[in-house]
Amino acid sequence: MLLLACGQRDKPNSAMKKTIAIRTELGDSLTSMALDYWVDMISQQSESLPLEVCKIESTEYIQNLQKRSKVKIKRTSDRIRNTSNHPDSLERYMIDLYKDLAKMQKPLPPKILLDRSGRIHYFKPISMNHECLSCHGQVRIDVDSTMQKRILDKYPNDQALGYFEGSIGGIWSLLWTDKVYQATPN
Ligand code: HEC
Repeated sequence: MLLLACGQRDKPNSAMKKTIAIRTELGDSLTSMALDYWVDMISQQSESLPLEVCKIESTEYIQNLQKRSKVKIKRTSDRIRNTSNHPDSLERYMIDLYKDLAKMQKPLPPKILLDRSGRIHYFKPISMNHECLSCHGQVRIDVDSTMQKRILDKYPNDQALGYFEGSIGGIWSLLWTDKVYQATPN
């Protein structure tokens, strides 16, 4: 786990360190649960996978996880399918960072970040596994023409095709909206 602090002048105190440790663990388990649920939903489907299977942010299961843990759970990417999943500047920075680390064949650990307004963010890369390729893989090899058409009909500006197994397809971006410290004004 790497701790980055943006705009923070004082070192984290012990209470803050404890909160950070708890939220790192919570981020790890929430993203694992969400991923398990996601892969499960995909595997349970028959031949013609509904596109909604990958709209997990709107499922009741994720809504409940968010409510219980008071955290916002988002997935985003540098090559998005749904424009409402667009990355903000911080998320874009993290995606580029993970891609650079992957190119250098370095480990890709989850990262916690404190932002300027004193909130905690959690990031973790999402890799494409074989379950994902029927909708995100190589056109005509993994994604058949019917699926490609269904995707493009609904998402005409889709950029989320052409991945290989193991590619970084995006990141989890979790945000706790409470402030854990009072940021010093610049
Ligand atoms: C049935 C087709 C299908 C499968 C299988 C699928 N996806 Fe998706 N994926 C989609 C659709 C459709 C969206 C857009 C969802 C929305 O409207 O929010 C999407 C969105 C995403 C996003 C959010 C960013 C964006 O592009 O809008 C990520 C990240 C992602 N998929 C990764 C994966 C991964 C990883 C897997 C495998 C575990 C997977 N997908 C499996 C169809 C699929």
